[in-house]
Amino acid sequence: MKIGVAKEIKPDEYRVALTPAGARELADRGHEVIVERSAGEGSAFPDSAYEAVGALLVSVDDVWGDAELLLKVKEPIEPEYGRLREGLVLFTYLHIAADEDLTRALMDSGITAVAYETVETSNRALPLLAPMSEIAGRLAAQAGAYFLEKPLGGRGLLLGGVPGVAPGRVLVLGGGVVGYNAAIIAIGLGAQVTILDRSIDRMRYLDEILSGRVSTVMSSALQIESSIAEADVVIGAVLVPGARAPKLVTRAMLGVMKKGAVIVDVAIDQGGCVETAKPTTHTNPVYDVDGITHYCVANMPGGVPITSTKALTNATLPYVEAIAEHGLAEAVARDPALARGVNVVDGKITYEPVAEAHDLAYTPVGDVLRLAAA
Ligand SMILES: NC(=O)c1ccc[n+]([C@@H]2O[C@H](COP(=O)([O-])OP(=O)(O)OC[C@H]3O[C@@H](n4cnc5c(N)ncnc54)[C@H](O)[C@@H]3O)[C@@H](O)[C@H]2O)c1
Repeated sequence: MKIGVAKEIKPDEYRVALTPAGARELADRGHEVIVERSAGEGSAFPDSAYEAVGALLVSVDDVWGDAELLLKVKEPIEPEYGRLREGLVLFTYLHIAADEDLTRALMDSGITAVAYETVETSNRALPLLAPMSEIAGRLAAQAGAYFLEKPLGGRGLLLGGVPGVAPGRVLVLGGGVVGYNAAIIAIGLGAQVTILDRSIDRMRYLDEILSGRVSTVMSSALQIESSIAEADVVIGAVLVPGARAPKLVTRAMLGVMKKGAVIVDVAIDQGGCVETAKPTTHTNPVYDVDGITHYCVANMPGGVPITSTKALTNATLPYVEAIAEHGLAEAVARDPALARGVNVVDGKITYEPVAEAHDLAYTPVGDVLRLAAA
C-alpha cells in the first residue's frame, strides 16, 4: 500500500504521524512510504532520516494526491478541506462530534476517515488517546512544581522539600490515566500526593500499584473542599465519558486555598473541572484568579513533540500495519477496536455519537465497508 505522511499545518502543532522507525517497519513489509518534505522537522526528525529508511520525500500536493492511506496527527483544517477525496483513507485525530463543518467536508468528499480517538478496545480502553493522557499527566506535575516558584507568581515552595523541610502537597482529582501519571511524577519529585476518585475499584488498583505511596480518598464536594485547602498543587484529571467535565472546584473554593497555589486543569479540553478555568496556550500557559495560578493548556502534549510523536506512533503503528496489510475493510472485520475508529465512509457517518451530535443518519460500519468493497 502507498502510505503518505502529511506535514501538520495547524498552528503550534509540531508532531508528525510517523517516525523514521515506523517508516522503516512499513517499508520492510513491502509498503511504499511517501513523506511530505519537512513533515518531521518539528519533532527533530530531518528529511534525511526518512530517506535513509527508504521513504520518498514529496510535495504537499503529491502526499495528499498519491497516498492510499494518509497519516496525520490533527484533524484537517479548512485549507486542507479541498484535498479530501474519494479513494483516500485518512487516519488521524478527528474529534468531529464537536466540528460540524469538518464532518460535512469529510462526507461531501467521499473520503474514508478513521479517528484515533474513537479506536476502542472491548474493555473500553482508548489505546490511541492513552499515550497523550500519559504525557499530559506527567507534564501536569512538572508544570505544578514549576509555577510554585515565587518569581513565576507561585507560593515560593519547593514541591519536594529538603531534609528537615516538609514537601508540598499535590491533590489529584481523578485517578485515571492522567491522574496516575501525574501522581507518579509528583511522588518522584518527593511531594505528598492524594488522589480523589469516585471508583473504588480504581482506587484499589492505584493503592496496590503505588504501594501506599499515595492516599486515595473517595471524591465528594465536601472532601474536595477540605483537601483543596491544604493543597499546594491541584491537578484536575477527571473524565466522565461522553460528557463535559463536571465542575468540581468552584470559584468559592479558591477562597480556602493557599495564595500562590497552582491549579493545573488537564481536563480543560473537555471544558475543565474547575469553574474558573479557561483554555490557555503553551505561549501563555497561566493566569491568576483570586491569587491562585491557573495552568489550563488545552494541548499539553504539543509542548513536547519529540516524546509525543514517538508515543503516538508506538500506539498507532500496529493499526497502520493492519490497514496496510489487509486493506481497511478486512482490517476492520478482524479488529472490532479499529472498527470503532471508523467515523466516515463514502459520505456516511459510521460512528453513532457523531451522527447523534449532528443529527445525521447513522450507518453501521460493516454495511458501508462491505458496500465499498463490493
Ligand atoms: N489538556 C490536555 O492536553 C489533555 C491531554 C490528554 C487528556 N486530557 C484530558 O484529561 C482528562 C482525563 O483523561 P484520562 O485519560 O485520565 O481519563 P480516564 O477516564 O482515564 O480517568 C478519568 C478518571 O476520573 C474519575 N472521575 C470521574 N468523575 C469524578 C469525580 N467526580 N471525582 C473524582 N474523579 C472522578 C474516573 O473514575 C476516572 O478514574 C480528560 O478530560 C482528557 O480529555 C487533556
